[in-house]
Amino acid sequence: MVAVAVMGADEPQQSTLPALSTDRLELRPVEEADLGLLIQLNSDPAVMTHIRGRAATITETRAEWSQRLTRQSNPARGLGYWLGFEDAEFVGWWSASWFAPRPETSGIGYRLCTAGWGRGLATEGARAMVGQAFADPGIERVFASTKSGNTRSRRVLEKLAMTHTATWTRAGDDRLLDSEYDEVGYELSRADWRTQRRRTARADPGVPE
Ligand SMILES: CC(C)(COP(=O)(O)OP(=O)(O)OC[C@H]1O[C@@H](n2cnc3c(N)ncnc32)[C@H](O)[C@@H]1OP(=O)(O)O)[C@@H](O)C(=O)NCCC(=O)NCCS
Repeated sequence: MVAVAVMGADEPQQSTLPALSTDRLELRPVEEADLGLLIQLNSDPAVMTHIRGRAATITETRAEWSQRLTRQSNPARGLGYWLGFEDAEFVGWWSASWFAPRPETSGIGYRLCTAGWGRGLATEGARAMVGQAFADPGIERVFASTKSGNTRSRRVLEKLAMTHTATWTRAGDDRLLDSEYDEVGYELSRADWRTQRRRTARADPGVPE
């Protein structure tokens, strides 16, 4: 494990996020001490294909998580980042993140080790993230974005019944000319989520509304 300080001494972060679980995943809040695992995950070029087009450096991963654990987390509202474990093995991270300029929305995200791909784990964890976001009565809408060419990720968002609402080019991306690298945005409103849950509960009375 690589020990690297994520945050400055002037940025204490008191995590009060809950631990969550799904059928196969134990999800626990990301802590500063997890940076080694996150660096390992970001060092796999396959994992990073649709994110940076290459493995991230330690410095980039440190900067990424400094921002995620401060500006993009709000433990008091139950919003932030979770590591996922299947049978005690680290499989990746999921988020229901906080975005201060739009306090009525939460961002859903995920990044899994390749060994975890293709078994529905991303969708399973992301569904828990949607539930966690809407557990905050102030959240009206969940949002997610991915690259147009990230078919697996788009499929996850479609399986969550999220709607593709926007396409844009991310400034600063040096691959702008290829539409595969356009950013696509997906949304799910609280009302649509409630309807979806009612339908699931009717189809399977064992599932709580
Ligand atoms: C995107 C990612 C989270 C998907 O994880 P996953 O566990 O494979 O996702 P799931 O198994 O829940 O669903 C994947 C879906 O894509 C489909 N899929 C799998 N391989 C595919 C491929 N090569 N092309 C198209 N679709 C594919 C699967 O069939 C599945 O859909 P289905 O259930 O309808 O059959 C994972 O690949 C990942 O972490 N990638 C790297 C990080 C990343 O890109 N994160 C998203 C950035 S926004």
